Amino acid sequence: MKVAETLDRISSINIFNTIDIPHCSWYVFMSKIKVALLGVGNCASGIVQGVYHYMDVAKEEEAVGLKNLFLQGYHPRDIEFVSAFDIETGKVGKDLSDAIFSPPNNTTKLVDVPKMDVPVLKGSVLDGVSDSVKHIIKISESPEVDVAQKLRESNAEIVIDLLPSGAKEASRWYAQESLEAGCAFINATPVFIASDVKWGKRFTKAKLPLVGDDLMDQVGATALHKTLLKLLSDRGVSISETYQLDVGGGAESLDTLERTKEVKRIVKTKAAETALPYKTSIVAGSTDYVDFLQNRRDSYFWIKGLYFGRTPVELDVRLNTIDAPNAGSILYDVIRGVKIALDRGLIGPLPIVSAYAFKHPPQVMPLTEAEQSFDKFIAG
Ligand SMILES: NC(=O)c1ccc[n+]([C@@H]2O[C@H](COP(=O)([O-])OP(=O)(O)OC[C@H]3O[C@@H](n4cnc5c(N)ncnc54)[C@H](O)[C@@H]3O)[C@@H](O)[C@H]2O)c1
Repeated sequence: MKVAETLDRISSINIFNTIDIPHCSWYVFMSKIKVALLGVGNCASGIVQGVYHYMDVAKEEEAVGLKNLFLQGYHPRDIEFVSAFDIETGKVGKDLSDAIFSPPNNTTKLVDVPKMDVPVLKGSVLDGVSDSVKHIIKISESPEVDVAQKLRESNAEIVIDLLPSGAKEASRWYAQESLEAGCAFINATPVFIASDVKWGKRFTKAKLPLVGDDLMDQVGATALHKTLLKLLSDRGVSISETYQLDVGGGAESLDTLERTKEVKRIVKTKAAETALPYKTSIVAGSTDYVDFLQNRRDSYFWIKGLYFGRTPVELDVRLNTIDAPNAGSILYDVIRGVKIALDRGLIGPLPIVSAYAFKHPPQVMPLTEAEQSFDKFIAG
């Protein structure tokens, strides 16, 4: 890696990645992936820290916790955060490396992050802050910047929407700013943008890729619920009732209580339904906020069904995770998938990347099919 590191220092724009093949190493010239962040909350903290956490990992088998260390030669360290927007007084004006650790962010610290020279800029508030989070999110008095202009100045090519899920108006407003700045858009929130035909047409017209909506976690409740339902159904169990409910302690969980409980329930229930070839009673959604959980999330699953001779079976499972790191591996795949789409001149909603990584994509696919299609898409 010495040659690669030296060359990396020479050029701030490009670095060289190594692809390990037995008995030799190939140095591949990769461009940086210039990313802008909307919302410097817990999830943003996870993906910024992850870049430094995985910086020196050179081999797939050493990349603990990542599904893919390399995608078409792109490594997580190729992701460069070039601009960031928030509205919280403790984050606006700070360097991104500090803002990611500012309250009310309460996710795990994975690594020390060096100064990044990316000041967090004040975006547009719109419906960003709900009544229930006003006691923990104080709006900065700094003037709002021209977001499209700042995106252009920072040479951002991909914008990631990590606003609170209830910030519908703000998410759509930022999507429009991204269009104006000529940036591809990744919508991690449950606001319908990539799955809305009107937005799809706008991005197609602007010749820009668009993916979303509502990111699926790496070991999230939706993926586990779908897998359990499919496993039991494939083994001939007739499932009659099932629920998946969770509690969390991040600001997002508090915001969900007031504004997006219903939409999250619809999205998660629909996603679980796609795992079964028949209709049954399914309830899936977020239930409550428990402050002392911090950024932890407890998800509870219950499944009831009948197997051979109508014999009853019940399954009770609890999954305990930390929210922000749960988005990292999938988001890195999405960021690199969108960059590959840009490299290949693909435009408009990307159905495969969306089906692979999001709960409410423009086109739903079973998990395994989505994963296989994603791998084929990456391989070109
Ligand atoms: N594992 C995950 O973290 C995960 C998984 C799936 C989806 N998501 C989605 O990602 C989004 C972010 O989640 P989070 O846990 O980081 O939330 P968070 O509440 O920790 O962060 C949201 C950030 O957005 C900022 N914000 C609010 N209004 C704004 C505005 N108008 N302009 C700019 N910034 C604004 C807040 O100050 C805060 O810093 C949510 O919509 C969530 O549903 C996250």
